[in-house]
Formats: sequence, structure tokens, C-alpha cells
Amino acid sequence: MPKQYSFKTDKVLKRYWEDISEVTQYLWQKGWAERNAGNLSIDITGEVAAPKEFSQYMKYPLQKCGKNLAGRLFITTITGARLRDIAKDRENTLLVVMIAKDLSGYYVLNVKKGAAKKATSEFPSHLMVHGMLRASNSPKRAVIHTHPNNLIALSQMKEFKNEAKLNAVLFGMHPEVRVVLPKGVGFAPYRCPGSLDLAEATIGSLKGKSITVWEKHGVVSAGVDIFESFDFIDTIAKAADIYFLCKMAGEEPEGLSGAQLKEIDGAFGNS
Ligand code: 13P
Ligand code: ZN
Repeated sequence: MPKQYSFKTDKVLKRYWEDISEVTQYLWQKGWAERNAGNLSIDITGEVAAPKEFSQYMKYPLQKCGKNLAGRLFITTITGARLRDIAKDRENTLLVVMIAKDLSGYYVLNVKKGAAKKATSEFPSHLMVHGMLRASNSPKRAVIHTHPNNLIALSQMKEFKNEAKLNAVLFGMHPEVRVVLPKGVGFAPYRCPGSLDLAEATIGSLKGKSITVWEKHGVVSAGVDIFESFDFIDTIAKAADIYFLCKMAGEEPEGLSGAQLKEIDGAFGNS
């Protein structure tokens, strides 16, 4: 194990592991992280020194990556890893990677060459979101993808398979959705997991928003840190839960009115 990038011995990485462990336990407890479901990435460029020489590191190819990510460092989950295991097994669940300066691939810095541990299969989506964030000088650096049951259920329903309708139902279920996410959520039509198509649909649907719903699959959220990224998901997942609680009680939820949403916008300075 190259010592320099160890989640056990490096102070900065250890701190990240602690935060990631906390949040991934929440994801597991919520029932959103079955088996290897979900993944995350955090841009840690500048917080950990980049290596100067790369021959000792495993390199994996990248299909597509924005120029603005050249040389940047990320923490990411390993494909196939169980998120619930991160808290007890940091070395077999998390990677520190660096994007090659020529964008041809990424180096794995915390694992011995030959160990065959690759970044999440959703790395294309993570990288596109990070590229978009850097391009807009956003302070957001932490991206989570997870599988919240009731949001996925909503995205299965013909009625809600578009951005306007999905936002209308989520805004209507709880005032906090409008407070926390005044721009609402994006909606990315179904694309194959792990594909570049899905990555493109993701950034196409985010457009200045913090979170998007992947039809029949899950969500992708971007926050300044992993806690904020989780909070965005938690907020809209609660709204979806309330929708289904009403339905299960045999009632059609009334929803907040347009006037009530306007009042919230005024009170909380949403533009
Ligand atoms: P990974 O194990 O490759 O991260 O895949 C999990 C997942 O949720 C794919 O969408
Ligand atoms: Zn997934």
C-alpha cells in the first residue's frame, strides 16, 4: 500500500474517511444502498499533494473527461464495493485517484499496482458533474449517487416522468423542499447504468441545480461537502415518502398551493 495516500495514516484522508463512513451509514440505514448500490466522489485537489512520478501506479483509461479536470485528485468508491463496508474497511472500498494530465486515464494512488481496484462504474457521471462544477467555479466538491426507494418509485410513474411534474409533486409535499432546493430537481431520462449517455443526461438535467433524479434508477446530488450532498437527497426523499404515505392511506395529497410556495420564496429570498 503506497503509504502517502493511505486512509489510515494520512490525516486529511483519514478525516474524509470518517465523514464518508458517517454518511454511507446513513445511506445504508435509509435502505438506499443495497449490495454495491450507490457511489460517491469528492474533489480533493490541493488538499493532498499530487505525485510527481507515476510508474508505480495502476492506470485505467477514461472514455471522456473535461479538460478542466486534468491533474485533479478525487476520492471515489471502488466499483462493486458495499457502501456499508466503508466504515469498517476503508482500504477495500475507497480510492484516491488522479486524472492524467493528458486526460487519457486516471491513476490509482492508494493501491499497489496490480490490485485491480477500479473507480465506480458511474465515474463518467461523477466526472462530468465535477467538470461542470469547476467550469462554473462552484464551491461544490462532493457528489453522491444513491438509490432512494420512493424517489425511484415516483420516477417509475408515467405521471411524474418529466421535470415539471416531478418538481410540482415534490415542492407540494413539504415546505423544506422549496427552502433547501429552490431550483428544484432535474430529471434525467433512463439511460444504461455506467454509460456516457447517462453522464450526458445527468449534466443536461442538472443545469445549475444541485440534484437530479435518474429515471427508474436513483439520484445524483452535488454539495459543498458530503453532508450537504446527503441533505439534498434526504430532503426530496422525505417529500416522496410523504406522497406515498398519503396514497397508502387512500388519499390524494393536497400539496402546497402556488400562493404558499410564493410566500416561501419571499420569506427565504429565493430568486
Ligand atoms: P458501482 O459499484 O460500480 O459504484 O455501481 C453501483 C451503482 O449504483 C451503479 O449505478
Ligand atoms: Zn446506481
